Amino acid sequence: MTQRIFDDALAVFEGSGIEVDVRDADGPLEPRVLRATLRDYDGVVCLLTDRLDRSVLEANPHLRVVANVAVGYDNIDVATAHRLGIVVTNTPDVLTETTADLTVALLLAVARRIPEGDRFVRSGRWERWRLLEEQTGVDVHGKTLGVFGMGRIGRAVARRVAHGFGMRVLYHSRRPLPEPEAAALGARAVGFEELLASSDFLSLHAPLTAETRHVIGAAELARMRDDAFLVNTARGALVDEQALAAALRDGTIAGAGLDVFEDEPAVHPGLLARQERVVLLPHLGSATIETRRRMAAVAATNARAVLLGAAPPNPVMIL
Ligand code: GLV
Repeated sequence: MTQRIFDDALAVFEGSGIEVDVRDADGPLEPRVLRATLRDYDGVVCLLTDRLDRSVLEANPHLRVVANVAVGYDNIDVATAHRLGIVVTNTPDVLTETTADLTVALLLAVARRIPEGDRFVRSGRWERWRLLEEQTGVDVHGKTLGVFGMGRIGRAVARRVAHGFGMRVLYHSRRPLPEPEAAALGARAVGFEELLASSDFLSLHAPLTAETRHVIGAAELARMRDDAFLVNTARGALVDEQALAAALRDGTIAGAGLDVFEDEPAVHPGLLARQERVVLLPHLGSATIETRRRMAAVAATNARAVLLGAAPPNPVMIL
């Protein structure tokens, strides 16, 4: 295990006969050290901050499993792993509802300017309730949510806002929703152009791949409405951060709620500089104690299965 992990993960290996080492540190190993360290292991449980790229995997073709403690796996070169016969696994399902909760929190936070209000109260500058409040936000209920990538998390977000806030849901996805589910959500599949042009809130829920990198760039931001908000709890590189910072500066869109960034933990200075209608979080989508513990246990269960010669519950397939 490449970094500190909950004991839940260790418990999974009890009685299995599998020997487990846990690196007692937070933060990834340098690629050179990771390459050398993995020589001693048959499998690895890693975090999304560990990069298992081609050079790391090709230096360790004896590995049988790479078990990521995350649903996203853009930190792993899956094609190379598969070519070498290494199984890659992830942790879907256990974090779906938790990440959807955070997405809605971010959407509300940016629409209703919650962090700004909090900072204002703490500053001691609050004098009275004003009808013409400077910190007015915009309504969320009754508005249109556009979902890019209608997988598990996209659907969980759509369920929350369609049923809880009476929002209209539009979506653009590789696979259309089954008709009964689309009908239950009142969700309509639309082309990418319509998604951009018609959403009051555009929420990203696609994996990061060669096709989705910078899917929201300057041209796409320009096609969004100037009163629209972008919410990203998927992967930072879906968005061209430079273009987003410019769009926010120029008023091309109204605001953004971001939990993920192109080059974490670095954040584009143009985003950091915007105090209004921009909410920034440090990649907290799955960050509840219950969910993080479950993710650790699921990753360990996947690794254990492969090392014992069984099929893991969550193998990653390249689509
Ligand atoms: C978190 O970002 C994850 O992919 O699980």
